[in-house]
Amino acid sequence: MFSPEGPTLRELAVQALSSVERGYDLLAPKFDHTPFRTPGAVLEAVAKALDPLGPFEDGLDLCCGTGAGTDVLAGLCHRSVTGVDFSAGMLDVARRRAAVAGERPPAGAEGPGVAWVRGDARALPFTAAFDLVVSFGAFGHFLPRELPGLFTQVHSVLRPGGRFAFPVLAPPRPSSPAFWMLLGFDAVMRVRNTVWRPPFVMYYRAFRLGLVLDELTRAGFTVGLRALPEFGWRADGSPRARLVVARRPDGATPPPAA
Ligand SMILES: C[S@@+](CC[C@H](N)C(=O)[O-])C[C@H]1O[C@@H](n2cnc3c(N)ncnc32)[C@H](O)[C@@H]1O
Repeated sequence: MFSPEGPTLRELAVQALSSVERGYDLLAPKFDHTPFRTPGAVLEAVAKALDPLGPFEDGLDLCCGTGAGTDVLAGLCHRSVTGVDFSAGMLDVARRRAAVAGERPPAGAEGPGVAWVRGDARALPFTAAFDLVVSFGAFGHFLPRELPGLFTQVHSVLRPGGRFAFPVLAPPRPSSPAFWMLLGFDAVMRVRNTVWRPPFVMYYRAFRLGLVLDELTRAGFTVGLRALPEFGWRADGSPRARLVVARRPDGATPPPAA
């Protein structure tokens, strides 16, 4: 599937019948040859949009996988970059990839220290140690009811004034084939999760911008949106891709759990 180095259809099916964590452990060696890794164009656009909001000292890539977002953070953060993910397999690939890149750094480049931590995004093993948290391509793995807990966790690991940023794509219109493809995918996953254990939570259409903005605000963030102009505009003038930038207000304490 996808490319000669990518997973076979059979391998993908076995992965999809596992838990999310185990599925990614199995997929890890071939993950970078799938479209599930965030493409370079998205990473570059996000890095460009975040650059004027810096300088940043310590960055966290939430659900880092093989390290797509840690590369973005390495160009933005001066002191440290941490990738956190619950798949040991994905972290292994990330570590090996980073070691190879570190063997031939660009001349004169002295980047931040990079750490890889195994942990669940719903129970992060950190104190308020970061001033930038990014996340790419992972929110489909969380049910809408998990968002309050997830965002409260991110809020708790940010220093006052710190930012949580992630890209969102405009959802496809019902007139486009992509709309029906995603609808079909989600329907298949719902059936799969009704009849098979452990569940593999991955729903493309559950992470809705309106809900996300409400839940971020409820978790104590001040939320802003900026267009990623590299991806153009839709016919109605709205951007095809945006960056959500949620800021933990200075001196604020997290709101009490609802
Ligand atoms: C589609 S991959 C994206 C990886 C990377 N961020 C990228 O853009 O290429 C999703 C990642 O989220 C991780 N993940 C899913 N749920 C998680 C959770 N509750 N805690 C930590 N990691 C999680 C998976 O292990 C996987 O590495």
